[in-house]
Amino acid sequence: MDYFNYQDGVLYAEDLKVSDLAAQFGTPLYIYSKATLVRHMQAFEQALAGKKHLICYAVKANSNLAILALMRSLGAGFDVVSEGELRRVLKIGADPKKVIFSGVGKTRAELTLAVQTGIGCINIESAAELEELSSVCAQLKMPAKVALRVNPDVDAKTHPSISTGLKSNKFGIAAEEAFALYQRIAADPYLKVSGIDCHIGSQMTSNGPIAEATEKLLTLYGKLEAAGILVDHIDIGGGLGVTYGDENPPSPYEYMAAVLQRVGKREVAIYVEPGRAMVANAGILVTQVQYLKQTASKNFCIVDAGMSDLIRPALYNSWMNIVECERRDEPKLLCDVVGPICESDDFLGKDRKLAVKAHDYLAVRGAGAYGMSMASNYNARRLPCEILVDGAKVEVIRARESFDDLWRLENPLNF
Ligand code: LLP
Repeated sequence: MDYFNYQDGVLYAEDLKVSDLAAQFGTPLYIYSKATLVRHMQAFEQALAGKKHLICYAVKANSNLAILALMRSLGAGFDVVSEGELRRVLKIGADPKKVIFSGVGKTRAELTLAVQTGIGCINIESAAELEELSSVCAQLKMPAKVALRVNPDVDAKTHPSISTGLKSNKFGIAAEEAFALYQRIAADPYLKVSGIDCHIGSQMTSNGPIAEATEKLLTLYGKLEAAGILVDHIDIGGGLGVTYGDENPPSPYEYMAAVLQRVGKREVAIYVEPGRAMVANAGILVTQVQYLKQTASKNFCIVDAGMSDLIRPALYNSWMNIVECERRDEPKLLCDVVGPICESDDFLGKDRKLAVKAHDYLAVRGAGAYGMSMASNYNARRLPCEILVDGAKVEVIRARESFDDLWRLENPLNF
């Protein structure tokens, strides 16, 4: 559920007309709804009520400082995967103890900052990375809490590009190898066993895979307990899917119930790292139609947003819902909605039925996650403006880049 709804054929972001916002702030424009973000966070909180837990919002989905500050104010912790993301959450005053650090290739500098900051947990993805962390801690003479990201070899049944829990993926440590590495951690003077972690994929639309992964983690948990190695949390990663079109994913409540049921009475906290489920449907990308172009084989609706603003359709062939900001009572045109970028894959949607004219505004729904955070300056395009709506109030949370921003760090030499 989100707060982008039609009233008399006009799309609203909470209490404000989307087309008015587009006219005021220009396009392409990302609009986020605060009420939707709050609702999603509450849904996760309610799903985990009664069990010790930590909701670590996956910063990669949308790392705008305002979104992070809002999540923090709602009690969220954070899952970060780079020094940049760690610095972003520290910038908004996150409690380091509620921050966990994931990722397959953390550098020595990143591990050093994580240890110095005293973050809640470092999720280790290989034996080599564990040795690096051990050496960082020894050098700093500082402790670190550690989880191993286990690769449970479970098929997340999602798009291959966003599936991460199979043996063939680069992520995590095989369950058979993990036990010996936990013994290694337990014997280290600076490292402390904290959790068992996994993340098997993204945009999962059923409970089966996460239930299967949980069972595998619990088997390891039992083995560790029997060996006297105590784990304080089990982290099931992110991955809960959202509705872009006709998907019908479980609710956060149903999803977490599948995990909690299996965990049962065990005295262990549950961590979860949702990104998409938290922000996707809390954001839309608004774009203006520039031209309608008819060719012998197709109609094209050429808009001012492209793959530089929202790469998911071009990169994964993702289907994202494109809607008119003001519905016209006119015949619909079957068309491909394409951007201005010089790539044939620069499209937002194919074979859509839209009643549109030049200068109309369209909105791509579900664009709050992996939209702006994956945007680029390709074709020397400025990154779009981002605004947050709260009822009838609106705030710019990232100004549109200026042209000077485009070359601010460059040196044209003077040959
Ligand atoms: N934790 C870890 C360790 C992750 O790698 C990810 C996402 C998450 C949590 C959050 O997953 P979520 O709840 O958002 O599914 N760019 C792709 C998605 C890539 C996801 C990468 N990892 C897309 O636009 O579909």
